[in-house]
Amino acid sequence: METIGYAIVGTGYFGAELGRIMNQQKGAKVVAILDPENAESVAKELNCDIETDLDALCSRADVDAVIVATPNYLHVEPVKTAAKYKKQVFCEKPIALSYKDCDSMVKACKDNGVIFMAGHVMNFFNGVRTAKRMINEGRIGKVLYAHSARNGWEPPQPTISWKKIRAKSGGHLYHHIHELDCIQFIMGEAKTVTMTGGNVAHQGEEFGDEDDMLLINLEFGNNTFALIEYGSAFRWSEHYVLIQGTEGAIKIDMRDCKGTLRTPKGEEYFLVHRNEEEDNQRTAIYNGVLEMDGAVMYGKPGKKPPLWLQGIMEMEMGFFNNLLHGGEVDDEFKPLLDGSAARAAIATADAATLSLKENRKVAVCEVK
Ligand SMILES: NC(=O)c1ccc[n+]([C@@H]2O[C@H](COP(=O)([O-])OP(=O)(O)OC[C@H]3O[C@@H](n4cnc5c(N)ncnc54)[C@H](O)[C@@H]3O)[C@@H](O)[C@H]2O)c1
Repeated sequence: METIGYAIVGTGYFGAELGRIMNQQKGAKVVAILDPENAESVAKELNCDIETDLDALCSRADVDAVIVATPNYLHVEPVKTAAKYKKQVFCEKPIALSYKDCDSMVKACKDNGVIFMAGHVMNFFNGVRTAKRMINEGRIGKVLYAHSARNGWEPPQPTISWKKIRAKSGGHLYHHIHELDCIQFIMGEAKTVTMTGGNVAHQGEEFGDEDDMLLINLEFGNNTFALIEYGSAFRWSEHYVLIQGTEGAIKIDMRDCKGTLRTPKGEEYFLVHRNEEEDNQRTAIYNGVLEMDGAVMYGKPGKKPPLWLQGIMEMEMGFFNNLLHGGEVDDEFKPLLDGSAARAAIATADAATLSLKENRKVAVCEVK
Protein backbone atom coordinates (compact mmCIF):
# COMPACT_ATOMS: atom_id res chain seq x y z
CA MET A 1 0.00 0.00 0.00
CA GLU A 2 1.23 3.45 -0.93
CA THR A 3 1.93 5.81 2.00
CA ILE A 4 0.14 9.15 2.07
CA GLY A 5 2.25 11.93 3.58
CA TYR A 6 0.42 14.38 5.85
CA ALA A 7 1.37 17.83 7.11
CA ILE A 8 -0.37 19.46 10.06
CA VAL A 9 -0.71 23.21 10.55
CA GLY A 10 -1.48 23.90 14.20
CA THR A 11 -0.54 21.15 16.65
CA GLY A 12 -2.23 22.24 19.87
CA TYR A 13 -4.94 20.22 21.63
CA PHE A 14 -6.66 18.96 18.50
CA GLY A 15 -3.97 19.03 15.80
CA ALA A 16 -1.54 16.96 17.91
CA GLU A 17 -4.18 14.28 18.53
CA LEU A 18 -5.19 14.24 14.84
CA GLY A 19 -1.51 13.60 14.12
CA ARG A 20 -1.21 10.76 16.68
CA ILE A 21 -4.34 9.18 15.24
CA MET A 22 -3.29 9.65 11.61
CA ASN A 23 0.06 7.95 12.29
CA GLN A 24 -1.88 4.86 13.44
CA GLN A 25 -3.81 4.59 10.16
CA LYS A 26 -2.66 2.16 7.47
CA GLY A 27 -0.61 3.81 4.72
CA ALA A 28 -0.42 7.14 6.54
CA LYS A 29 2.50 9.11 7.92
CA VAL A 30 2.68 12.63 9.31
CA VAL A 31 5.87 13.95 7.73
CA ALA A 32 5.95 17.58 8.88
CA ILE A 33 4.16 20.06 11.13
CA LEU A 34 4.05 23.82 11.57
CA ASP A 35 3.14 25.53 14.82
CA PRO A 36 4.82 28.68 16.21
CA GLU A 37 4.43 27.56 19.83
CA ASN A 38 3.88 23.84 20.18
CA ALA A 39 5.80 22.15 17.36
CA GLU A 40 8.84 20.82 19.20
CA SER A 41 7.37 18.27 21.59
CA VAL A 42 4.72 17.19 19.07
CA ALA A 43 7.30 16.68 16.27
CA LYS A 44 9.35 14.52 18.64
CA GLU A 45 6.30 12.45 19.52
CA LEU A 46 5.16 12.10 15.90
CA ASN A 47 8.71 11.56 14.65
CA CYS A 48 8.38 14.17 11.92
CA ASP A 49 9.98 17.40 10.68
CA ILE A 50 9.21 20.93 11.77
CA GLU A 51 8.65 23.62 9.14
CA THR A 52 8.33 27.30 9.96
CA ASP A 53 7.06 28.57 6.62
CA LEU A 54 3.68 27.65 5.11
CA ASP A 55 4.92 27.61 1.50
CA ALA A 56 7.88 25.44 2.47
CA LEU A 57 5.56 23.02 4.27
CA CYS A 58 2.93 22.82 1.55
CA SER A 59 5.38 22.57 -1.35
CA ARG A 60 7.16 19.50 0.08
CA ALA A 61 7.10 16.59 -2.37
CA ASP A 62 6.42 14.13 0.48
CA VAL A 63 3.28 16.02 1.58
CA ASP A 64 0.10 14.79 -0.15
CA ALA A 65 -2.42 16.31 2.22
CA VAL A 66 -2.58 19.12 4.76
CA ILE A 67 -4.58 19.04 8.01
CA VAL A 68 -5.45 22.51 9.32
CA ALA A 69 -6.05 22.79 13.07
CA THR A 70 -5.07 26.38 13.84
CA PRO A 71 -7.35 28.67 15.88
CA ASN A 72 -10.58 29.38 13.98
CA TYR A 73 -9.59 32.82 12.64
CA LEU A 74 -6.39 31.38 11.15
CA HIS A 75 -7.78 28.68 8.84
CA VAL A 76 -7.97 30.70 5.61
CA GLU A 77 -4.29 31.10 4.74
CA PRO A 78 -3.14 27.49 5.34
CA VAL A 79 -6.13 26.09 3.41
CA LYS A 80 -5.49 28.34 0.41
CA THR A 81 -1.75 27.68 0.49
CA ALA A 82 -2.30 23.92 0.60
CA ALA A 83 -4.72 24.19 -2.34
CA LYS A 84 -2.24 26.31 -4.29
CA TYR A 85 0.28 23.43 -4.08
CA LYS A 86 -2.50 20.96 -5.02
CA LYS A 87 -2.48 19.19 -1.68
CA GLN A 88 -5.68 17.56 -0.40
CA VAL A 89 -7.15 19.50 2.54
CA PHE A 90 -8.80 18.63 5.84
CA CYS A 91 -9.83 21.70 7.83
CA GLU A 92 -11.15 21.88 11.36
CA LYS A 93 -14.47 23.51 12.12
CA PRO A 94 -15.65 26.22 11.92
CA ILE A 95 -14.13 26.42 8.44
CA ALA A 96 -14.17 30.21 8.54
CA LEU A 97 -15.70 33.11 10.43
CA SER A 98 -17.44 34.60 7.38
CA TYR A 99 -19.18 33.32 4.28
CA LYS A 100 -16.81 35.37 2.10
CA ASP A 101 -13.74 33.63 3.54
CA CYS A 102 -15.39 30.21 3.45
CA ASP A 103 -16.44 30.68 -0.16
CA SER A 104 -12.92 31.74 -1.20
CA MET A 105 -11.46 28.62 0.51
CA VAL A 106 -13.97 26.33 -1.20
CA LYS A 107 -13.20 27.96 -4.56
CA ALA A 108 -9.42 27.67 -4.06
CA CYS A 109 -9.79 23.93 -3.42
CA LYS A 110 -12.19 23.44 -6.33
CA ASP A 111 -10.02 25.42 -8.78
CA ASN A 112 -7.01 23.28 -7.82
CA GLY A 113 -8.97 20.04 -7.98
CA VAL A 114 -8.37 19.02 -4.36
CA ILE A 115 -10.68 17.63 -1.68
CA PHE A 116 -11.75 20.09 1.01
CA MET A 117 -12.98 18.01 3.91
CA ALA A 118 -14.70 19.87 6.76
CA GLY A 119 -14.07 18.63 10.30
CA HIS A 120 -17.77 18.46 11.15
CA VAL A 121 -17.37 15.57 13.59
CA MET A 122 -21.01 15.09 14.51
CA ASN A 123 -21.65 13.46 11.15
CA PHE A 124 -19.51 10.54 12.35
CA PHE A 125 -21.39 10.01 15.63
CA ASN A 126 -23.08 6.61 15.74
CA GLY A 127 -26.10 8.45 17.19
CA VAL A 128 -26.33 10.87 14.27
CA ARG A 129 -25.84 8.14 11.65
CA THR A 130 -28.48 5.99 13.37
CA ALA A 131 -30.90 8.93 13.56
CA LYS A 132 -30.39 9.68 9.86
CA ARG A 133 -30.99 6.04 8.97
CA MET A 134 -34.18 5.94 11.06
CA ILE A 135 -35.43 9.15 9.41
CA ASN A 136 -34.64 7.78 5.93
CA GLU A 137 -36.57 4.61 6.84
CA GLY A 138 -39.58 6.79 7.70
CA ARG A 139 -39.60 5.79 11.38
CA ILE A 140 -40.63 9.29 12.57
CA GLY A 141 -42.61 10.28 9.48
CA LYS A 142 -42.07 13.74 8.04
CA VAL A 143 -39.56 15.79 10.04
CA LEU A 144 -41.30 18.94 11.29
CA TYR A 145 -38.95 20.43 13.86
CA ALA A 146 -35.52 20.14 15.41
CA HIS A 147 -34.37 21.61 18.69
CA SER A 148 -30.79 21.62 19.90
CA ALA A 149 -29.27 22.93 23.09
CA ARG A 150 -25.59 23.24 23.93
CA ASN A 151 -25.69 25.13 27.17
CA GLY A 152 -23.88 25.45 30.46
CA TRP A 153 -22.61 27.91 33.04
CA GLU A 154 -19.14 29.37 32.75
CA PRO A 155 -17.36 30.35 35.97
CA PRO A 156 -14.59 33.02 36.00
CA GLN A 157 -11.60 31.92 33.88
CA PRO A 158 -8.00 32.17 35.18
CA THR A 159 -6.77 33.04 31.67
CA ILE A 160 -8.81 33.94 28.60
CA SER A 161 -8.40 31.43 25.77
CA TRP A 162 -8.74 32.53 22.11
CA LYS A 163 -11.82 30.28 22.22
CA LYS A 164 -13.59 32.94 24.30
CA ILE A 165 -12.72 35.91 22.06
CA ARG A 166 -15.39 36.64 19.45
CA ALA A 167 -12.97 37.83 16.72
CA LYS A 168 -10.84 34.67 17.07
CA SER A 169 -13.38 31.92 17.69
CA GLY A 170 -16.59 33.42 16.30
CA GLY A 171 -18.23 32.85 19.71
CA HIS A 172 -20.48 29.92 20.64
CA LEU A 173 -22.38 29.81 17.33
CA TYR A 174 -19.31 29.46 15.07
CA HIS A 175 -17.10 27.58 17.54
CA HIS A 176 -19.85 25.05 18.18
CA ILE A 177 -21.21 24.97 14.63
CA HIS A 178 -21.72 21.18 15.03
CA GLU A 179 -25.39 21.34 16.03
CA LEU A 180 -26.28 23.84 13.28
CA ASP A 181 -24.49 21.65 10.71
CA CYS A 182 -26.16 18.50 12.07
CA ILE A 183 -29.64 20.04 11.86
CA GLN A 184 -29.01 21.29 8.32
CA PHE A 185 -27.72 17.82 7.37
CA ILE A 186 -31.07 16.42 8.48
CA MET A 187 -33.46 19.19 7.42
CA GLY A 188 -31.66 20.86 4.50
CA GLU A 189 -30.43 24.44 4.33
CA ALA A 190 -32.36 27.05 6.31
CA LYS A 191 -34.13 29.76 4.31
CA THR A 192 -34.56 32.43 6.99
CA VAL A 193 -32.99 33.01 10.41
CA THR A 194 -33.83 35.07 13.46
CA MET A 195 -31.33 35.26 16.31
CA THR A 196 -31.79 36.96 19.66
CA GLY A 197 -29.50 37.01 22.68
CA GLY A 198 -26.35 38.76 23.80
CA ASN A 199 -23.83 38.77 26.60
CA VAL A 200 -26.21 38.62 29.54
CA ALA A 201 -24.07 37.48 32.49
CA HIS A 202 -20.36 37.30 31.63
CA GLN A 203 -18.84 40.77 31.44
CA GLY A 204 -15.46 41.68 32.89
CA GLU A 205 -11.81 40.69 32.90
CA GLU A 206 -12.40 37.07 33.90
CA PHE A 207 -14.40 36.40 30.74
CA GLY A 208 -14.03 36.72 26.99
CA ASP A 209 -16.22 39.02 24.92
CA GLU A 210 -18.48 36.42 23.26
CA ASP A 211 -22.25 36.43 23.67
CA ASP A 212 -23.20 33.95 26.39
CA MET A 213 -26.82 33.43 25.27
CA LEU A 214 -27.82 32.83 21.65
CA LEU A 215 -31.32 31.72 20.61
CA ILE A 216 -31.60 30.93 16.91
CA ASN A 217 -34.83 30.33 15.06
CA LEU A 218 -34.53 28.66 11.63
CA GLU A 219 -37.27 28.35 9.00
CA PHE A 220 -36.81 25.84 6.20
CA GLY A 221 -40.08 26.42 4.31
CA ASN A 222 -42.70 23.69 3.88
CA ASN A 223 -43.77 24.23 7.54
CA THR A 224 -40.52 22.97 9.05
CA PHE A 225 -38.58 24.78 11.75
CA ALA A 226 -35.67 24.51 14.16
CA LEU A 227 -34.58 26.23 17.34
CA ILE A 228 -30.94 26.21 18.40
CA GLU A 229 -29.67 27.38 21.80
CA TYR A 230 -26.04 28.04 22.59
CA GLY A 231 -24.30 29.62 25.51
CA SER A 232 -22.57 29.72 28.83
CA ALA A 233 -25.25 31.61 30.79
CA PHE A 234 -27.38 28.55 31.56
CA ARG A 235 -27.25 27.09 35.08
CA TRP A 236 -29.24 24.04 33.97
CA SER A 237 -26.82 22.57 31.46
CA GLU A 238 -28.18 20.67 28.45
CA HIS A 239 -26.66 19.21 25.31
CA TYR A 240 -28.90 17.48 22.82
CA VAL A 241 -30.45 17.42 19.37
CA LEU A 242 -34.17 16.55 19.35
CA ILE A 243 -35.89 15.81 16.04
CA GLN A 244 -39.69 15.81 15.96
CA GLY A 245 -41.65 14.14 13.15
CA THR A 246 -45.28 13.38 12.36
CA GLU A 247 -44.94 9.75 13.53
CA GLY A 248 -42.36 9.97 16.28
CA ALA A 249 -39.28 11.74 17.61
CA ILE A 250 -35.57 11.10 18.07
CA LYS A 251 -33.38 12.54 20.79
CA ILE A 252 -29.59 12.43 20.63
CA ASP A 253 -28.64 13.36 24.17
CA MET A 254 -24.94 14.15 24.54
CA ARG A 255 -25.13 15.09 28.23
CA ASP A 256 -26.84 12.02 29.63
CA CYS A 257 -25.35 10.26 26.65
CA LYS A 258 -28.05 8.18 24.97
CA GLY A 259 -30.00 8.01 21.70
CA THR A 260 -33.78 7.46 21.89
CA LEU A 261 -36.41 6.79 19.22
CA ARG A 262 -39.89 7.43 20.62
CA THR A 263 -43.01 6.42 18.66
CA PRO A 264 -46.53 5.46 19.77
CA LYS A 265 -45.21 1.84 19.90
CA GLY A 266 -42.69 2.68 22.61
CA GLU A 267 -39.02 3.60 22.91
CA GLU A 268 -35.86 2.20 21.32
CA TYR A 269 -32.39 3.15 22.48
CA PHE A 270 -29.07 3.43 20.65
CA LEU A 271 -25.51 4.52 21.41
CA VAL A 272 -24.39 8.08 20.67
CA HIS A 273 -20.76 6.97 20.30
CA ARG A 274 -19.00 3.69 19.45
CA ASN A 275 -19.59 1.78 22.67
CA GLU A 276 -20.99 2.07 26.19
CA GLU A 277 -17.62 3.01 27.65
CA GLU A 278 -17.44 6.12 25.43
CA ASP A 279 -21.06 7.10 26.15
CA ASN A 280 -20.63 6.56 29.90
CA GLN A 281 -17.41 8.55 30.04
CA ARG A 282 -19.09 11.48 28.32
CA THR A 283 -21.97 11.37 30.79
CA ALA A 284 -19.49 11.26 33.68
CA ILE A 285 -17.61 14.32 32.34
CA TYR A 286 -20.80 16.35 32.06
CA ASN A 287 -21.92 15.30 35.52
CA GLY A 288 -18.68 16.54 37.03
CA VAL A 289 -17.41 13.08 37.98
CA LEU A 290 -14.47 13.66 35.63
CA GLU A 291 -12.61 16.90 34.99
CA MET A 292 -14.28 19.54 32.83
CA ASP A 293 -13.41 23.16 32.10
CA GLY A 294 -16.48 24.88 33.45
CA ALA A 295 -19.71 23.77 31.82
CA VAL A 296 -18.58 24.11 28.22
CA MET A 297 -15.62 21.86 27.49
CA TYR A 298 -12.50 23.41 25.99
CA GLY A 299 -9.22 21.61 25.37
CA LYS A 300 -5.79 23.18 25.41
CA PRO A 301 -2.36 22.24 24.03
CA GLY A 302 -0.94 19.21 25.85
CA LYS A 303 -4.35 17.95 26.97
CA LYS A 304 -5.77 14.63 25.66
CA PRO A 305 -9.31 14.57 24.27
CA PRO A 306 -11.81 12.31 26.09
CA LEU A 307 -12.45 8.77 24.83
CA TRP A 308 -15.60 9.57 22.86
CA LEU A 309 -13.85 12.39 21.01
CA GLN A 310 -10.78 10.24 20.28
CA GLY A 311 -13.19 7.66 18.85
CA ILE A 312 -14.75 10.22 16.52
CA MET A 313 -11.36 11.60 15.51
CA GLU A 314 -10.27 8.05 14.63
CA MET A 315 -13.33 7.65 12.42
CA GLU A 316 -12.72 11.03 10.79
CA MET A 317 -9.00 10.49 10.11
CA GLY A 318 -9.68 6.89 8.97
CA PHE A 319 -12.31 8.22 6.57
CA PHE A 320 -9.99 10.93 5.16
CA ASN A 321 -7.07 8.52 4.75
CA ASN A 322 -9.28 5.88 3.12
CA LEU A 323 -10.58 8.53 0.73
CA LEU A 324 -7.03 9.48 -0.29
CA HIS A 325 -6.30 5.81 -0.89
CA GLY A 326 -9.18 5.77 -3.39
CA GLY A 327 -11.91 4.46 -1.06
CA GLU A 328 -15.60 4.85 -1.91
CA VAL A 329 -17.72 7.45 -0.12
CA ASP A 330 -21.39 7.12 0.88
CA ASP A 331 -23.57 9.84 -0.62
CA GLU A 332 -24.42 11.15 2.87
CA PHE A 333 -20.78 12.25 3.37
CA LYS A 334 -20.31 13.99 0.00
CA PRO A 335 -21.33 17.49 1.20
CA LEU A 336 -18.49 17.24 3.74
CA LEU A 337 -15.91 16.85 0.99
CA ASP A 338 -16.58 19.65 -1.47
CA GLY A 339 -17.19 22.52 0.93
CA SER A 340 -20.98 22.55 0.53
CA ALA A 341 -21.73 21.59 4.16
CA ALA A 342 -19.12 24.09 5.36
CA ARG A 343 -20.53 26.89 3.21
CA ALA A 344 -24.13 26.14 4.22
CA ALA A 345 -23.26 26.21 7.93
CA ILE A 346 -21.30 29.48 7.73
CA ALA A 347 -23.99 31.12 5.55
CA THR A 348 -26.65 30.37 8.17
CA ALA A 349 -24.34 31.50 10.99
CA ASP A 350 -23.65 34.78 9.15
CA ALA A 351 -27.37 35.31 8.58
CA ALA A 352 -27.99 34.72 12.32
CA THR A 353 -25.26 37.22 13.20
CA LEU A 354 -26.80 39.83 10.90
CA SER A 355 -30.23 39.14 12.40
CA LEU A 356 -28.97 39.84 15.92
CA LYS A 357 -27.11 42.96 14.78
CA GLU A 358 -30.04 44.46 12.85
CA ASN A 359 -32.82 43.05 15.06
CA ARG A 360 -34.74 41.46 12.16
CA LYS A 361 -35.42 38.21 10.34
CA VAL A 362 -32.74 37.58 7.69
CA ALA A 363 -33.00 35.48 4.53
CA VAL A 364 -29.86 33.29 4.26
CA CYS A 365 -29.50 34.28 0.58
CA GLU A 366 -28.77 37.87 1.74
CA VAL A 367 -25.33 36.88 3.02
CA LYS A 368 -24.23 34.87 -0.02
N1 LIG B 1 -14.05 18.95 16.03
C1 LIG B 1 -13.98 19.19 17.32
O1 LIG B 1 -14.72 18.65 18.12
C2 LIG B 1 -12.91 20.13 17.78
C3 LIG B 1 -12.49 20.10 19.12
C4 LIG B 1 -11.48 20.98 19.50
C5 LIG B 1 -10.94 21.85 18.58
N2 LIG B 1 -11.40 21.87 17.29
C6 LIG B 1 -10.88 22.85 16.31
O2 LIG B 1 -9.50 22.60 16.10
C7 LIG B 1 -8.82 23.85 15.88
C8 LIG B 1 -7.69 23.95 16.90
O3 LIG B 1 -8.27 23.97 18.21
P1 LIG B 1 -7.43 23.48 19.48
O4 LIG B 1 -8.41 23.11 20.51
O5 LIG B 1 -6.39 22.52 19.07
O6 LIG B 1 -6.73 24.87 19.91
P2 LIG B 1 -5.32 25.03 20.61
O7 LIG B 1 -5.24 26.43 21.06
O8 LIG B 1 -5.09 23.95 21.59
O9 LIG B 1 -4.28 24.80 19.41
C9 LIG B 1 -4.11 25.71 18.36
C10 LIG B 1 -2.66 25.60 17.90
O10 LIG B 1 -2.48 26.40 16.75
C11 LIG B 1 -1.20 27.03 16.88
N3 LIG B 1 -1.15 28.21 16.01
C12 LIG B 1 -1.50 29.50 16.30
N4 LIG B 1 -1.28 30.27 15.21
C13 LIG B 1 -0.79 29.47 14.25
C14 LIG B 1 -0.39 29.68 12.91
N5 LIG B 1 -0.47 30.89 12.35
N6 LIG B 1 0.11 28.64 12.20
C15 LIG B 1 0.19 27.40 12.76
N7 LIG B 1 -0.20 27.13 14.02
C16 LIG B 1 -0.70 28.16 14.76
C17 LIG B 1 -1.07 27.35 18.35
O11 LIG B 1 0.28 27.55 18.71
C18 LIG B 1 -1.67 26.09 18.97
O12 LIG B 1 -0.67 25.11 19.20
C19 LIG B 1 -9.87 24.94 16.01
O13 LIG B 1 -10.35 25.30 14.74
C20 LIG B 1 -10.97 24.28 16.82
O14 LIG B 1 -12.25 24.84 16.58
C21 LIG B 1 -12.34 21.01 16.88
